[in-house]
Amino acid sequence: MKKHILLLWLLITFITSQAFSQQDHPFFPARRLITTGIYYYPEHWDPNLWERDIKRISEMGFEFVHLAEFAWFKMEPEEGKFDFGWLDKVMDLCAKYRLKVVMCTPSATTPAWMRHQYPETFLMNSQYIRGEHGTRGLGAIVNPAYRRFVEIIVTKMAQRYGKNENIIGWQLDNEPDAKPDFSPSSQEAFRQWLKDKYHSIDTLNAVWGNAFWSQWYSSFDQVIIPNVNLVGWWGSNPHAVLDFKRYLADAQAAFLDFQAHTLRKYISQQQFITTNYTAVCTGADPRRTKALDFATYTAYPNGGTYNIGKQGFRLGNSNVILFAAEYYKATGGFSGAMEIQPGTVNWGNFTPLPLPGTVRMWLYHVFAAGGKLACSYRFRQINYSAEQYHSGIMLTDGVTPSPGGNDYMQFMKEMNLLRKEADVNAPLPEKLAKRATAILWNLENYWSFDQQRQTRQWDTWNYPIKFLQIAKSFGAQADVVAETADLSKYKFVIVPAYELVDSALIKKWQAYAANGGHLIITCRTAAKNRAGYLWEAGWAAPLSSLIGARISAFDMLPDQYYGDVQTKSGHYSWNNWGDLLQPDKNTEAVAIYNDQFYKGAAAVVKRRLGKGDVTYIGVDTDDAKLEKDVLRDVYTAAGATTEDYPPGVFVYWRDGFYVAVNYSSDDYAMNIPASAKIMIGEKTVKPGGVLVWKE
Ligand code: GAL
Repeated sequence: MKKHILLLWLLITFITSQAFSQQDHPFFPARRLITTGIYYYPEHWDPNLWERDIKRISEMGFEFVHLAEFAWFKMEPEEGKFDFGWLDKVMDLCAKYRLKVVMCTPSATTPAWMRHQYPETFLMNSQYIRGEHGTRGLGAIVNPAYRRFVEIIVTKMAQRYGKNENIIGWQLDNEPDAKPDFSPSSQEAFRQWLKDKYHSIDTLNAVWGNAFWSQWYSSFDQVIIPNVNLVGWWGSNPHAVLDFKRYLADAQAAFLDFQAHTLRKYISQQQFITTNYTAVCTGADPRRTKALDFATYTAYPNGGTYNIGKQGFRLGNSNVILFAAEYYKATGGFSGAMEIQPGTVNWGNFTPLPLPGTVRMWLYHVFAAGGKLACSYRFRQINYSAEQYHSGIMLTDGVTPSPGGNDYMQFMKEMNLLRKEADVNAPLPEKLAKRATAILWNLENYWSFDQQRQTRQWDTWNYPIKFLQIAKSFGAQADVVAETADLSKYKFVIVPAYELVDSALIKKWQAYAANGGHLIITCRTAAKNRAGYLWEAGWAAPLSSLIGARISAFDMLPDQYYGDVQTKSGHYSWNNWGDLLQPDKNTEAVAIYNDQFYKGAAAVVKRRLGKGDVTYIGVDTDDAKLEKDVLRDVYTAAGATTEDYPPGVFVYWRDGFYVAVNYSSDDYAMNIPASAKIMIGEKTVKPGGVLVWKE
């Protein structure tokens, strides 16, 4: 008898373990590929329209509704008086029309009574002026009163909806971005953060280099937040500013974790917790939270800029989803887009109509890069208030789908087809495995560079993205990873301008290459220690033995003045940044400067190291041609094949599908094997087009 029970137990364990395939996930079953949703704000509309709208959302093919994001005023109209009746009704309608829900905590917009009765709950700008009621994102996230109110509303919501089976997860706040706060509560919290970090004021004085310009403090009480706007950028202390940024990012992460912990006391394990960072987020650091299941991003590629070719201003900036989709995997290993621009926006430099099909292409881009969810702000275009000119999935009449709405419907229909054809257990094709690339990046480097760019041509945000673009042009699967990542998974690791380092990190890079990795490091890496000090040694001295060269100096040229760099394959122009390299005996000079007074100095070097190699690219060019050719040679020499996709054409692989999107202004004829099975689109991918195929 006992034996039978044991066998039965083993069988059940086996079956349940099989039911979750390798990629299967408690929140997002692999076979669903990507789950789609839409923001709906019932509080904006006459309750008589709710059922019509929710029914329509369901009929259009959406799978979840995103609710309550800015609705604090409705849930707690007076301090301590709660009303969830209206939200219950909407929840019932969602259940009736088989729509799941992502419930949001409303901390980004507080009710009027809070600013009125508790002004300290609002942050202060750098002129020490307090924010006013009337917009969002002005909460002083370290203020105890504000946190108490947040805790109460989040608790009430969690108690009411935490066990609701229709809710798949929670979004915390809206676009948390670690806004600078100069209020007394923030000053106090900053001082506490410094005490925890430095313990003694002398240590702080030493690390901040306070001997300079009499910045010396005799007690923590004298320390105030470094206020760049009042001292002028030239007068600010870069070490203090770096710490302020770190403090803000820590405070933001702690605030999100605090909400997550509050929720977790009540919600079921089936409900996830996430937040929606902006795609380009220079303040909040998604890697600092500990209690979120994953991070999502908000993607608005078209804000009125030129982009690639003649139609680029309609197709949007191809970097937005490209980078965010990889970077935001940092928190939980996967990500998704919580907001995808549905059409024109109200805040662009100018607001062109997207080329027909563009919204669908953005959706496919999110999908291609592994996104588990795709959602959009917002269902109905609103006919009043600040975002009147922002399109929605429905036009202003509330019942006619916008062009973006039609794109969504097509995407959701096509996903149903792809779900049937997906091979969620397919291994990564061999040729892609050979190209596996990691790009190392960290927000602290951004903060540091942005204070001391040295040339206005240094494009701090886009610099690492340039290398992601290059890897994608080779057809590589490329991840954006933290320095703590396991690098051994990658054939190629690119370290673009990683300014702040310590010896442990250099050792890790060394070991990666010595064990057979192909390491590519670029200019401005290792120029400083973690506190932001240059070395009391040669330029980027800790790097010298790793790259097999000394950096004797660096140069930069005026905007329109180009220098010449030569490799065995030809000439390249550069002007943004140029390290002058002196290679060691066993280091190859891959590129040399061909003009200026230092003609003949090396610009790019490569050396073998153990089973692998290290390449150092000392120049930053405008057109990236040099960087691309150097990288291609590294890939080829390492036995990886490379494609040559033009700018804006990106190809990904997931779940057995190759997916291509085209942000360029030209048709692109995709070279696919004759035996390939086209699932969606055509071999010639038009601008704004997509192609999905199986090989
Ligand atoms: C996002 C924001 C939305 C909406 C949208 C407009 O950044 O999260 O609430 O304001 O912008 O484009």
